[in-house]
Amino acid sequence: MLAQADTRIAAVIAEQEEIFVKRQPKSAALAARASSVLAGGVTSSWQITQPQPVWLSHGRGGHVYDADGNEYVDLHGGYGAALAGHAHPAIAAAVRAAAGSGTHFAQPTENAIVVAEELARRWGLPRWRFANSGTEATMDAVHLMRAYTNRDLIIKVEGGYHGHHDSVQVSVMPAEAEAGPRTAPNQVPSSAGIPAAITSLTLIAQFNDLSSVAGLLEAHPGRVAGMIVEPVMMNAGIIHPVPGYLAALKDLLHEHGALLAFDEVKTGLTVGPGGVTRQSGVSPDLVCLAKSLGGGVAVAAIGGTEELMDFVGAGGYEMVGTFNGNPLAMSATRAMLTEVATDEAYLKIERLRSQAAEGIESAIEEFGLNAHVVTAGAKGCVVFGTGAVRDYREFLTVDDTRSHAHWLFQHNGGVFLPPWGKIEQWLISVQHDESDIDRLITNFRTFAEAVGAQ
Ligand SMILES: Cc1ncc(COP(=O)(O)O)c(C=O)c1O
Repeated sequence: MLAQADTRIAAVIAEQEEIFVKRQPKSAALAARASSVLAGGVTSSWQITQPQPVWLSHGRGGHVYDADGNEYVDLHGGYGAALAGHAHPAIAAAVRAAAGSGTHFAQPTENAIVVAEELARRWGLPRWRFANSGTEATMDAVHLMRAYTNRDLIIKVEGGYHGHHDSVQVSVMPAEAEAGPRTAPNQVPSSAGIPAAITSLTLIAQFNDLSSVAGLLEAHPGRVAGMIVEPVMMNAGIIHPVPGYLAALKDLLHEHGALLAFDEVKTGLTVGPGGVTRQSGVSPDLVCLAKSLGGGVAVAAIGGTEELMDFVGAGGYEMVGTFNGNPLAMSATRAMLTEVATDEAYLKIERLRSQAAEGIESAIEEFGLNAHVVTAGAKGCVVFGTGAVRDYREFLTVDDTRSHAHWLFQHNGGVFLPPWGKIEQWLISVQHDESDIDRLITNFRTFAEAVGAQ
């Protein structure tokens, strides 16, 4: 029975990959040309989709267009950065304004105050600084926690991704065979080139498991600077915190003189106007934002308590960067916060979220699939497994093959979901509408019918 299902899914994937390649000859030609001047033929290693990279020509509203002229409902959202959709008039106007009056001075401009005031209002943290990517924001958070506490160790969650700096490139996506025991996970470097000495400073806990954090704090008394965590995990599908987890985590860390940093690079504006911080009512010591914050322009923000940010202000930790708070990013971010990510926009997103969740859940039931939908505001995914996923070890049981088959069906049916199967989520933008979600559901039904109950 299982073997039959495997054969069927393999045949379905082969068929869909053939359609995929046939639809995109220009992408194939661009990929071939790129391979001599771009390492791996792409501009970031995670742009390599299977069976071949998709080259885009432009985006407008909630849609993108590939080099071959195929149109897609864009739920990839540039890995969660396109909450504004594409070419949003307010963002385009803000970018034009900055382009016409200078995009870089390395001196602050008034928009930085407006943005910080609005972030303080939404996130409830009083002071802010800016950077240019999620990686920079989480790197600053880790440095700052270490500098403030004068301690070297940090805790991160197995299966959590916080960017590509050394300290957080540990146990991001370890294979089961290398991950070690669930209760004493190994510290697995996530890439070549990470010195073992740095990896050893990052201790690994399980999400939703306070005892795993308590164990680490007790095993290393007075040595843990803090913990960085996605308050809703979004690099392992979507894993919500169990009720009370985030508040208890903060208390536990504080009892041991350690700090709590929320990595809201992905959750940020996408789950709601003030991120998980506002939704949960748990205020961390530090919060990191990036991705959707700039409406598609590269920007990141780090918010913190008075205590921590005044330590920065007094020179206790030098938080620096040539392009930090540059006028282009600040202009776009101001527009994003004041004109795009509005209360009205969130009401629309909530309607589309529930349309997507209900439509797909009902197809899952009708076709008898072993799957379920998890959402968080504008984000959502289909988890190909029945049980609720609470941590990375449970996430490992989610079916990758069907996740990839689903991605192919959506793609060939004109919906661009983020690649990398079970890891990523869709992102609904403020410019999508009901007909876009209809297409997502229709493609899901086609997929469900093709793969059958399994
Ligand atoms: C939760 C989280 N933190 C940090 C990052 C790093 O952001 P960037 O790719 O902008 O460096 C990512 C990127 O996917 C992320 O998902």
